[in-house]
Amino acid sequence: MTTAPPTTAPASVPVPAAQAIQRVGVVGCGVMGAGLAEVCARAGRDVLIVSSSEAGLTRGRGRLERSLGNAVRKGKISEAGREETLARVTYATDLGSFHDRQLVLEAVPEHEPTKLDIFQTLDKVVEDPDAILASNTSALPVIRLARATRRPEHVLGLHFFNPAPVLPLVEVVSSLLTGERTRRTAAEFVTEVLGKQAIHAGDRSGFVVNALLIPYLVAAIRMYEAGYADARTIDNAMTLGCSHPMGPLALADLIGLDTVAAIASALYEEFKEPTHAVPPMLSRMVDGGLLGRKSGEGFYSY
Ligand code: 3HC
Repeated sequence: MTTAPPTTAPASVPVPAAQAIQRVGVVGCGVMGAGLAEVCARAGRDVLIVSSSEAGLTRGRGRLERSLGNAVRKGKISEAGREETLARVTYATDLGSFHDRQLVLEAVPEHEPTKLDIFQTLDKVVEDPDAILASNTSALPVIRLARATRRPEHVLGLHFFNPAPVLPLVEVVSSLLTGERTRRTAAEFVTEVLGKQAIHAGDRSGFVVNALLIPYLVAAIRMYEAGYADARTIDNAMTLGCSHPMGPLALADLIGLDTVAAIASALYEEFKEPTHAVPPMLSRMVDGGLLGRKSGEGFYSY
């Protein structure tokens, strides 16, 4: 684990111990929301997913079922384990259903007004004053989400990686207002309950991973846009030459091109570095609904 970032919140803010967190809420059931719900339910937690529409919930349930089917095929869980996991997950369209949650993980698209609205509502509906409210944001300032609530010391970032059931890392992101016990309990939940690895990161756009990853993906898109090499050549260069599990364009498709563009914009806004500027081709692909795997078309067809 890296050194903890500075925090000014009092150390005595009460929060539940990690193992005592049994009821988890997940806001959003896109790729990341469904993945987070799966990870928590597989760790034996009661998970309630809230999405704004029934159609969204149906798609999310499908994602969860496919991923668990995959886990059974790969021998990671038994058929009974799959059934038990699915039985631990319930679905709703109203954030008010979160009244009894002890931990809420927000995983909606990187649109700040939407996230602010959600945190404001969570603050009103989650009854346990000690509950932890976490965002899976990749690049937005956690402190702004914290200030949308009256309990900023209980708000932090828990940033998972796609595919969440497979990748072991979680960035635990403390804002200047996050309480020390919130940070410690959240990190313990990540490591001891979910069995993942945690690193602590400060509240700076991109944290550790995306601050390094996004300039690389943007550079690959610029190379492709300039016609220097085709998508397969660029991706083969990095899988075969550097032993990455997938090349940058295939990875951008996996993450979602809208998400890559949103993170790059947030990084650009924070640092004003040309390496973060969204390439015109990426903007046009997003405008055109070519979002990668989730839409069926991106740098590749799916
Ligand atoms: N549950 C548990 N394990 C599962 C699983 C599931 N639902 N589905 C697959 N697995 C396991 C498999 O059993 C296998 O484990 P093993 O090596 O122990 O046998 C492992 O996951 C790999 O699965 P597959 O063999 O099915 O697939 P691949 O070998 O083709 O790997 C991949 C697919 C995991 C996506 C791999 O290509 C990869 O790691 N790519 C890089 C992904 C990456 O970099 N993600 C980070 C994106 S950045 C991000 O998310 C941050 C955001 O803010 C942008």
